[in-house]
Amino acid sequence: MKVPFSPPRIDEKTIEAVTEVLRSGWITTGPRTKEFERRLAEYCNVSNVLCVNSASAGLELVLHWFGVGPGDEVILPAYTYTATANVVLHCGAKPVMVDVKDDFNIDVALIEKAITPRTKVIMPVDIAGWPCNYYKINDLVRRSDIVQMFSPTTEEQRKLSRILVLSDAAHSLGAMYANARTGSLTDITVFSFHAVKNLTTAEGGAICFNLQEPFDNGEIYKTLCVKSLHGQTKDAFSKMKVGAWRYDVVEAGYKCNMTDILAAIGLVELERYDRYFDSITDSDDCKISNTGNSSSMLETRYKIFSIYSEEFSKHDCFIIPPYGSYSDGIHSSYHAYLLRIKGATEEQRDEIIQKISENDVAVNVHFQPLPLLTCYKNLGYKIEDYPVAYKNYSCEISLPVFYDMTYGQIELVIKSVIDATYSVLRHNS
Ligand SMILES: Cc1ncc(COP(=O)(O)O)c(C=O)c1O
Repeated sequence: MKVPFSPPRIDEKTIEAVTEVLRSGWITTGPRTKEFERRLAEYCNVSNVLCVNSASAGLELVLHWFGVGPGDEVILPAYTYTATANVVLHCGAKPVMVDVKDDFNIDVALIEKAITPRTKVIMPVDIAGWPCNYYKINDLVRRSDIVQMFSPTTEEQRKLSRILVLSDAAHSLGAMYANARTGSLTDITVFSFHAVKNLTTAEGGAICFNLQEPFDNGEIYKTLCVKSLHGQTKDAFSKMKVGAWRYDVVEAGYKCNMTDILAAIGLVELERYDRYFDSITDSDDCKISNTGNSSSMLETRYKIFSIYSEEFSKHDCFIIPPYGSYSDGIHSSYHAYLLRIKGATEEQRDEIIQKISENDVAVNVHFQPLPLLTCYKNLGYKIEDYPVAYKNYSCEISLPVFYDMTYGQIELVIKSVIDATYSVLRHNS
């Protein structure tokens, strides 16, 4: 493959960090995980972060903690990855899907229409790293008529007395909205560190707690720590201390803790993620990452986005994705470059992808709206109810973006996309 889609950035530094953990005698949850949690909390400007083994597990833990169950509704976009809705189904609740806007993110006006007395949670998704309109979402859940409609059934729901905003920020670590980073924008935020994410731990996720008084985020952290480990009151690290073997189990919890092996990768990744941290340079001049002032992951991705946009905006047939500017108060995490071909049908888009692939360039589609998938069709969701999601999806192609990308690779992607698009559109005109 001349241009892979999104290989992880694994180098000697990562390998050394993992080897050190393997040699340390402690490989599951322990000091590295706790350190990674502290560093993430500092970066996101929140008091507490809990690391888990995936974003999916993190989202489900939070829904469980908030007491979401049968009879409850959770509002989420139809345009997302299946994890967002699956976790709601696992709790026995109903995913209420709403359509999105042209920027791929959930349409807040439609959220308002979908709210009922059964709505317990709204799960906005920062598609491709572009933050949702959190001003509007946070205002909406606090509006008096919406608050009055809320019918709490658990202690946590009574304490909050309104709909919880649980942000699915699987794509958006490091993105900014109104000068604040994701993690600090809603009540609770969940990140993914899956292998194709900007910051990876192979598999992994993190939950950022940002609830206001009377909640104590430190206490919620402890409760979810226990919930993430079978409801056991002591983790393995504490139990291993001399004379500290006794523990209790207070509920039938989950098993989704992060291991120190994964956290070690995360710590290396985070250290060089953003110019917020000290960045390091590498010596290959051909790489995008080695030009300009910083070689941080975010800035490198921003440069790749900028090059793509500069070239594609010369052609009328492309729609450039929103991503903001790296130094502005609102910007993406530049996770995925969602290019659209103006007016292309789904079949034409597929044909374009086929032609691009012939040049050994890996592209993708983010995402198939959930109502197109068998599981959700069988539950009665219909794509006709989500026209914008379908329109965005049908002409969308996600382009490769990764840290070690070279100028040669980026040129090949651009040329392949332009050639393939003109060839298909010309052929069909
Ligand atoms: C929007 C969205 N939400 C949630 C997830 C789940 O993340 P994880 O694989 O860490 O469970 C993903 C994974 O790609 C995603 O794209």
